[in-house]
Amino acid sequence: MSADFPEDFPKGSVWLVGAGPGDPELLTRKAERLLRAADVVYYDALVSPAILDLIPASIARHSVGKRAGRHSVPQPMICDTIVKAALSGQRVVRLKGGDPSIFGRANEELDACRENGIAVRVCAGVTTASAAAASLGTSLTTRGLARRLTFVTAHTAKGQAPALDWAALADPEATIAVYMGKAAAGAVSDGLMRAGLSPDTPVALMENVSLPQERVFTTSLRLLAVSAKAALGDGPALILIGAVTEAGLAEARAAIAERAATP
Ligand SMILES: C[S@@+](CC[C@H](N)C(=O)[O-])C[C@H]1O[C@@H](n2cnc3c(N)ncnc32)[C@H](O)[C@@H]1O
Repeated sequence: MSADFPEDFPKGSVWLVGAGPGDPELLTRKAERLLRAADVVYYDALVSPAILDLIPASIARHSVGKRAGRHSVPQPMICDTIVKAALSGQRVVRLKGGDPSIFGRANEELDACRENGIAVRVCAGVTTASAAAASLGTSLTTRGLARRLTFVTAHTAKGQAPALDWAALADPEATIAVYMGKAAAGAVSDGLMRAGLSPDTPVALMENVSLPQERVFTTSLRLLAVSAKAALGDGPALILIGAVTEAGLAEARAAIAERAATP
């Protein structure tokens, strides 16, 4: 078996590959190897052009993009497409933004392959929250400050408020990474404040994380909705809530030091 056609990628098989949040340097070496060995690549709307440029021109690629509020390929059709391509004997890469296992409907694609007797595997990717923390120069968890990390999606059918367990989420010692939360920023802020999280809890709004057009806005839980409306554009955005974000870190560290110094 040559390096181009490795044993872990036989004809008629599928890999779900994590593309990371956009910066091609955050693509794993394994992901790049699989992209070069594929016959066909089906990619998400959020896979950046710089990553698509890494796919050799000889390999077929098709967008099966889904973006909030825009025309999209329905999930069952995506499952059908990758199954058909694999059954026709092709090596299929399903290239997904971030990590396939986080809000990527990976199980639906895994199930569709398995139900059709197709060998399918997953190549992990860097999820947006990890890249966001790296951009902020902070850590998602911090001793004495953030002992819990929650990844949550605020995505809902159009016009509906997210049905989240706000009491469970409103932990002042947690970092909350809200994916697909732009449209529901007001509901997120109301829900968490009503459940007791301080309105002054720091928040970072992060758009186009890891890309050259990345933008970061720091705000507070109280001002989250207005800030999101005023500051965020068209790009994908992550809402990072908690003391580890840029706005809160220095203040929280000072408070910890003060507590430690108090006899
Ligand atoms: C369908 S989810 C996929 C998440 C992905 N699997 C991951 O691990 O990052 C899409 C959401 O991820 C977030 N996202 C993805 N890429 C992003 C980026 N470069 N910058 C900010 N947020 C991003 C946004 O909240 C977006 O609405």
